[in-house]
Amino acid sequence: MLNRFLAAQFARPHGAAGQWLLGPLLDGIGRPMMADTFAALAARPGERALDLGFGGGMLVRRLLAAGVRVTGVDRSGAMVARARRRHLADIRAGRALFLEGDARALPLGKAAVDRAASVNTLYFWPDLAPVLAELHRVLVPGGRLVLAFQTPDQVRAWPGHVHGFVAHAVGEVAQALAEAGFAPEPPRLAHAASVGDYALLAALRGGA
Ligand SMILES: C[S@@+](CC[C@H](N)C(=O)[O-])C[C@H]1O[C@@H](n2cnc3c(N)ncnc32)[C@H](O)[C@@H]1O
Repeated sequence: MLNRFLAAQFARPHGAAGQWLLGPLLDGIGRPMMADTFAALAARPGERALDLGFGGGMLVRRLLAAGVRVTGVDRSGAMVARARRRHLADIRAGRALFLEGDARALPLGKAAVDRAASVNTLYFWPDLAPVLAELHRVLVPGGRLVLAFQTPDQVRAWPGHVHGFVAHAVGEVAQALAEAGFAPEPPRLAHAASVGDYALLAALRGGA
């Protein structure tokens, strides 16, 4: 019962729990992954970055603190509303934008961002191709993408994964990236107490 509830909240935070509990919970669990993603993204001040499925927004805050202009897209209206409340000044200054939208139809124009990241999200993408095609479309040529996700064994170690989680193998994600027109770098595997084993896959967007 609790696992089913948590799985649905992780997939799309909603309701009162989504508004008030999920943000801090997700930030607490994902902190090491977001620190690694921030480093791997290597965004420079003034660049434009997308955080797809930003959830509690820890990566957004790190990017903004580094002078990066951030667009956050999440299908959770609760997470978007929370981010807009917390980043009023950044939004007014044109440094941040939060949009409700789906990964398979990103509400951004072509070549809209220099960097893109997505942490702990691809379990909710049974088919990676449409999402990677969208990330390819919104990144500039040569733009950098970083995906961070738990390894399949780690996903399956949580009983709640049966409620809709897809455990993608690291090699499968790398291959899907290559097929979508990215040049993936060798994956990096890491471990942290809060999340267990996870992978970081960075890739450059190829093509013109
Ligand atoms: C487990 S949370 C991870 C949040 C944050 N990135 C982190 O690591 O803590 C997954 C987030 O991705 C969002 N999400 C999942 N599938 C999505 C999709 N297809 N399009 C947009 N957002 C999605 C959910 O609404 C949720 O906020």
